[in-house]
Amino acid sequence: MEQIKVRAHAKINTFLEVLNLRSDGYHNIRTLFQTVDLADEVNIEKALSGITLFCDNPQVPSNRNNLAFKAAELMLKEAKISTGLKIKIVKNIPVTAGLAGGSSDAAAVLNGCNVLLNCNLSYKKLVEIALQLGSDVPFLLKGGTQLGEGRGELLTELELLSEFWLVLVVEGEKKSTGSVFKALKKTSTKPPIFDKTIKYCLAKNTFNKVELVQILHNDLEVPAGKLFPEILKVKEELRKAGARGVLMSGSGPAVFGLAYTKSEAEKIAAKLKIKYEKVLITKTIKPQRLGEPNGNHGS
Ligand code: C5P
Repeated sequence: MEQIKVRAHAKINTFLEVLNLRSDGYHNIRTLFQTVDLADEVNIEKALSGITLFCDNPQVPSNRNNLAFKAAELMLKEAKISTGLKIKIVKNIPVTAGLAGGSSDAAAVLNGCNVLLNCNLSYKKLVEIALQLGSDVPFLLKGGTQLGEGRGELLTELELLSEFWLVLVVEGEKKSTGSVFKALKKTSTKPPIFDKTIKYCLAKNTFNKVELVQILHNDLEVPAGKLFPEILKVKEELRKAGARGVLMSGSGPAVFGLAYTKSEAEKIAAKLKIKYEKVLITKTIKPQRLGEPNGNHGS
């Protein structure tokens, strides 16, 4: 095998609670990660030497500032073979939106190189490497529905019982994840519904539609709302348009509105498109994983 194609899915956070600041500068969090169908296409090909990266979106860096490039460097180091890599990314996930597009491309490179370069690294080792790239990269190695604790890397797999449709709106300029965390004034008061519902769902390992809507919460919304007030307006517009629940994803600025059906999502999106430029429809999925039957294998 000389090349491999991997779909790098976007993620949303349907719940995100910031627990405390750690001595390493990160925060302990408790979050529910959810993979969505929207994905970049990442093609990794063996080359004679060096790493080259091409992306069809000029906003995306093609050097070490790109997490996928760094991921390739780390995997070449692990593989201990003299080869180069040529990476091509077709970007479908909005960039710097809070949808983990860059992190997902990096996770795709880790998974893809593990197969392409016959590294045979264990999932545990891949998680270790992923964490050097970003707190959400470990989740993106497998995706699906997972509870993330610690920095987000201590993962527990869960099951979402029904598919959700989503209307994603990306409005406003991204502020760095670090600056949103910093702007958070930590309070310990939280409506008890989150704990109650979340504990109940974690105990049975599953969520249904109604439960997920009840769980929606993101501690980073308040500080992000101060840094980019557009998100509050987008939330209001999504609610007015009939979304079953609305929330900012990650550290923003992407906001999603939940719908039970595709046609419901289409009606909401049509209303939002009158006001906003970047409006996308997608749905929750459990992605095929590399190495699984019908997984996204390369040539
Ligand atoms: O891990 P990642 O590179 O995505 O994190 C970017 C920044 O976000 C970190 O440098 C840190 O300031 C903040 N962060 C945090 N706690 C987390 C994840 C990120 O404080 N669990």
